[in-house]
Amino acid sequence: MQDFLEFRSISKGYPGVQALSDVSFAVHKGAVHGLMGENGAGKSTLIRVLSGDQSADQGEIRIDGEVQRYRSVRDAFHAGVIVIHQELQLVPELTVAENLWLGHFPGKGGVIDRRKLIGVVSQKLAEIGIDVDPAAKVASLSIGERQMVEIAKAVMLDARVIALDEPTSSLSSRESEILFALIDRLRANGTVILYVSHRLDEIFRLCDSLTVLRDGKLAAHHPEISKVTRDQIISEMVGREIANIWGWRGRSFGAERLRVENIAGPKLKAPLSFSVRRGEIVGFFGLIGAGRSEMARLVYGADTRSQGSVSVDGTAVPADSPPKSIRAGIVLCPEDRKFDGIVQGRSIEENMTISARRHFSPFGIINPQKESELADRFIAKLRVRTPSRRQDIVNLSGGNQQKVILGRWLSEEGIKVLIVDEPTRGIDVGAKSEIYEILYGLAEQGMAIVVISSELPEVMGITDRIMVMCEGRLSADLPRSAFDERRILAAALPDIKNSRDISLTQVR
Ligand SMILES: Nc1ncnc2c1ncn2[C@@H]1O[C@H](COP(=O)(O)OP(=O)(O)OP(=O)(O)O)[C@@H](O)[C@H]1O
Ligand SMILES: [Mg+2]
Repeated sequence: MQDFLEFRSISKGYPGVQALSDVSFAVHKGAVHGLMGENGAGKSTLIRVLSGDQSADQGEIRIDGEVQRYRSVRDAFHAGVIVIHQELQLVPELTVAENLWLGHFPGKGGVIDRRKLIGVVSQKLAEIGIDVDPAAKVASLSIGERQMVEIAKAVMLDARVIALDEPTSSLSSRESEILFALIDRLRANGTVILYVSHRLDEIFRLCDSLTVLRDGKLAAHHPEISKVTRDQIISEMVGREIANIWGWRGRSFGAERLRVENIAGPKLKAPLSFSVRRGEIVGFFGLIGAGRSEMARLVYGADTRSQGSVSVDGTAVPADSPPKSIRAGIVLCPEDRKFDGIVQGRSIEENMTISARRHFSPFGIINPQKESELADRFIAKLRVRTPSRRQDIVNLSGGNQQKVILGRWLSEEGIKVLIVDEPTRGIDVGAKSEIYEILYGLAEQGMAIVVISSELPEVMGITDRIMVMCEGRLSADLPRSAFDERRILAAALPDIKNSRDISLTQVR
């Protein structure tokens, strides 16, 4: 097979960081090529160079034997290269149809016939198999839906090369399947797909070939994915062996810490109750949109509860105020950390240590030296790839930004109840296992922990009990001894939830 897309000796440096050094590899026509590596390994940088968004310091890209000299995203676009970035690029104030129109007819001005546009776009979306209302404002869509719109945009433009940077990190499993079907179709048409993901399952499901980057260098190139094993890829990425990434160990639980009784809000279909004991890690599993984040926001008071109560160590927590929840010892690390979490233009240290939460915190005065030490400790512990804690957070890779924000929540003192929503989204394997270790440590100190995750192996791997949600209701409550993949999935899927062989454990 003939090489279609070639990277030759690509290097790219930023102040204090060599993001890419001398990276060369080639991809065949009609191949889906995986790109893996730890957070900060250089994956997104390579994609940005391909997209014309950044220029390489050295090296060249060839497509179909032709050297590409483009200097902007527009040039790349005209060369048939479309990139879907890790950070979504849609305009939130515009509708789905308008966003797709922007992508479809670049640079053409004039008045849009909105009704006609919506008609055309609905037909296109239906063809592609994406179920999103074209007239909806992008701002009103879930992260998963936005991602699908972004992907639709790339499919609608007849690209020769499509690069997807962690496209499934916020897709439900059903949306991911739609995406995979699309990718299979594109492959059959001869499109080259460059696919960045931290999920090995997906890489094996989709890719024909694979490149692994480590510290900006080519760590491995595998022309045939069938000849590599998972363990081999992990050690190529991390540069060391990781025996068991979950590392779960038994703990004894203390008294009840968090008690949630009959809470309700707009997106919950039935009043919801559960409790978590000291030292216990409870997982909430479900498909995207099952109501897990809504549950968390109601417990935390970010959304107001219309009924029910929440208490910590027997003391009631007011229904409508995150600062009061924090004072009562509850914190929530939100799912959309980019939106809720990152303070752009500020350093890693500031992002990690200064927060509204600390402002409301009764746990003492801020000591700058202690804060710096804390930042350094978490940078080392979570393997944040950066020259210094003083680096502006916007200069970090996506996964490293996630680590910093997570570090903020994991380092707070005086917390009794920690709720983390999708804590390891976008984070590489090596750092994941460090995060789990931190959670176990916090639980051992008596914290009650709630982990919301859409990754079943993760929920099963690290929690003591799993609550499953489906369409705004609790559909199962299983102790670790009853963990069973099929049973959990069955409880999470709306279609087969009512089948007879699934018993719903009584919710306490
Ligand atoms: N504009 C920038 N200024 C300074 N450093 C940068 C900039 N952009 C990227 N970097 C650095 O380049 C390195 C590679 O980053 P890149 O975003 O390519 O990583 P990645 O492999 O995509 O990681 P992730 O899995 O976290 O998305 C990182 O150390 C990052 O901090
Ligand atoms: Mg990236």
